[in-house]
Amino acid sequence: MNAPTFRPAIAPPLWLLAELTYRCPLHCPFCYNPVDSANDRTELTTEQWFDVMRQARQLGAAQLGFSGGEPLLRDDLEELVGEGRRLGFYTNLITSGIGLTESRLARMKELGLDHIQLSFQDSTRELNDFLSSTKTFDLKARVARLIKQYAYPMVLNVVLHRFNLDHVERIIAMALEMGVEYLELANTQYYGWALVNRDQLMPTREQVAHAESVVNACRARIGNKMRILFVVPDYFEARPKACMNGWGGVFLGIAPDGTALPCHAARTLPGIDFPNVRDTRVKEIWYDSDAFNRYRGDAWMKDPCRTCDDKAKDFGGCRCQAYALTGDAANADPVCAKSARHGDVQAIVMHAQRTQQDAVWQPAQPIVFRKNPQK
Ligand code: FES
Repeated sequence: MNAPTFRPAIAPPLWLLAELTYRCPLHCPFCYNPVDSANDRTELTTEQWFDVMRQARQLGAAQLGFSGGEPLLRDDLEELVGEGRRLGFYTNLITSGIGLTESRLARMKELGLDHIQLSFQDSTRELNDFLSSTKTFDLKARVARLIKQYAYPMVLNVVLHRFNLDHVERIIAMALEMGVEYLELANTQYYGWALVNRDQLMPTREQVAHAESVVNACRARIGNKMRILFVVPDYFEARPKACMNGWGGVFLGIAPDGTALPCHAARTLPGIDFPNVRDTRVKEIWYDSDAFNRYRGDAWMKDPCRTCDDKAKDFGGCRCQAYALTGDAANADPVCAKSARHGDVQAIVMHAQRTQQDAVWQPAQPIVFRKNPQK
């Protein structure tokens, strides 16, 4: 029997993510930014961002994230934070910490910035600096102290993969020492540069299982002192994630050049004309554009999603992953065990398993570090 059709009313965007710039001082090989972002040199002006923020707020957006690239590379970040707060947004800075001086932090605190998420690449200086291809470990440690000093809740994000999964215990110890309140251990999801480096970054099942058991043991030991979120890599699951809480559901991302996106990776999908805030009102983008309506509801779904009881819960998984792995964004995300292409995902995991069991593991090809736009 077919699962009932759903086409819920379009709710307002709750989360506006302002990707202020693709420029970044770091070169992480797991960055989710588009791999061709080095060619992207046009960024919205301060006034254009103000306008986007005003429009999104009028539509009902409540949370405003500033990310990139590295948002601190924008000299007008403080102005944007100030305007965001004035409009009544809950504001959130997602940063590598590079460029966060005490005076900038003090100013943003004064303007009411609500929340900062700081990223580290590892608990060791060597690996942190190798992965970011910069000497930034000590600088980040200083920024972590500053964030505490300015009485922000300390939120630390570490992306996990083959190179640092075995360090999870040390990463947790580092976070405790820094006084972190919320530690996000996010296994790499394979988009952007991470997809380019998938074979090099893919962990073994044993690594993931071991890290998860370490996290559980630490949780039991430290109790509420620090909350730890451990996100299992998609490829190791049998059911897909409800990516972005559904396409055009709650998330409105604006790329540095003003392109409006229902998710970070959407630009990789061919045949969709993503609207730009330079020439289209945010309301029209959200409610009426073909791009934002393309994968709402279930009319676009094929089997097995169309007849699946979970379709209103997981929305068939991730459109960008379906496209990257099957060549058709309307297919079920092959992470799902019901997908006819699930075997491809298992083969990728098995391949990592085999290669990494070799006595001295060498990536089949060197890691490709993220290239940055010059400006
Ligand atoms: Fe685009 Fe999942 S990242 S839908």
